[in-house]
Amino acid sequence: MRHRTQVGIVGAGPAGLFLSCLLARAGIDSIVLENRSRDYVENRIRAGVLEQGTVDLLNEAGLGGRLGREGLAHGGIEIRFDGRGHRIDFLALTGKAITVYGQHEVVKDLIAARLAEGRPLHFDVSDVAVEGFEGDSPVIRYSSAGVAHEIACDFIAGCDGFHGICRPSIPAGVLTLYERSYPFAWMGILAAAPPASKELIYAHHERGFALLSLRSPTLSRLYVQCGPEDDIGDWPDDRIWEELQRRTATSDGAFRVPQGAVLQKGITPMRSFVAEPMQCGRLFLAGDSAHIVPPTGAKGMNLAIADVHYLAQALAAHYRSGSTDLLAGYSARCLRRVWNAQRFSWWMTTMLHRHPDDTPFDRRRRLAELEYLTGSEAAMRSLAENYVGLPLE
Ligand code: APR
Ligand code: PHB
Repeated sequence: MRHRTQVGIVGAGPAGLFLSCLLARAGIDSIVLENRSRDYVENRIRAGVLEQGTVDLLNEAGLGGRLGREGLAHGGIEIRFDGRGHRIDFLALTGKAITVYGQHEVVKDLIAARLAEGRPLHFDVSDVAVEGFEGDSPVIRYSSAGVAHEIACDFIAGCDGFHGICRPSIPAGVLTLYERSYPFAWMGILAAAPPASKELIYAHHERGFALLSLRSPTLSRLYVQCGPEDDIGDWPDDRIWEELQRRTATSDGAFRVPQGAVLQKGITPMRSFVAEPMQCGRLFLAGDSAHIVPPTGAKGMNLAIADVHYLAQALAAHYRSGSTDLLAGYSARCLRRVWNAQRFSWWMTTMLHRHPDDTPFDRRRRLAELEYLTGSEAAMRSLAENYVGLPLE
């Protein structure tokens, strides 16, 4: 079957879904293709911190309803090391807050809005291929329920994540890839337990990093640093709780992480990755298909939302006036933000984790860095302004 649209979007994660929403607001047609099921993408547990700028963009697009009611506004975070906690007060230092709201909740809201408007979003498709984007007539081919389909479009948005097919479809020699892997990963759980604290706690400990986050007054999201090759089987629930308790203990012995049933469990690899440029002809990459950050800075979803905000602006200018300036500048505009987020995420990750090949000097230097960070208003403000998100251009 043949179809025609203005923008063909591959991937229904936050990037693809929010792009389709912004384009609809600008009167531009799109078709979204997703190779997983609706149930799968709506229940895939990922990060959960939204910058204020991300919340503003979702609100402006009319997606603020449930986010406004259920999102938890946080005015700061705690950095804990040497048995002591230090609060970084985002509101006082920057005037901005962050909102804790799971990425899959954002995805649910975007899917509901798209389907309520009766706009095309196809799940469970297979054999997706992108062609012709170096010329004037891009085409997306795919299969659905055994039927072959073909979409002719003006532009293709590659929003299909790190393992998608769009980036690998770009001919060799066009992209420069920058990559760094880390010698550790995160073992993460979702637990039916009240949060240990109202705000997130990032803990540095000689046994390794731990992060206490949350999803609601009755659901905690907790992580411990583990080995890059570790398997879920290496981490029975008891071991996770034991490490969480030890790594977050305070010197007065008073702090305990509330425990509860483990509802989900998974290992998050740690990688920094950037593909440049984020465009090849009429194919534009956005979100994880173009860049990955380690989760320590909570930037992944925020970068995806910023990318598609710029892409939607550029496409709207093109359809409104024929101007191609913003489309031509899309990649450079995104990459300025992406590289700063790379720098920040790398810095948070390096500072807070235990590194297997650390020397005693490295360990003392890391503690000195944490002492400086939590003792200097200038250093705290630098962390705060990056964590709440630099202003969108
Ligand atoms: N065809 C169609 N869809 C595909 C294909 C394909 N060949 N390959 C992958 N996809 C889908 C995935 O199933 C997923 O739903 O593309 C979507 C990509 O979504 P995400 O991985 O969530 O990426 P993105 O929208 O860029 O959002 C970035 O996700 O991984 C987190 O930390 C990251 O928070 C950040 C966010
Ligand atoms: C989460 O709640 O899942 C979370 C929070 C902060 C991070 C990473 C993940 O830095």
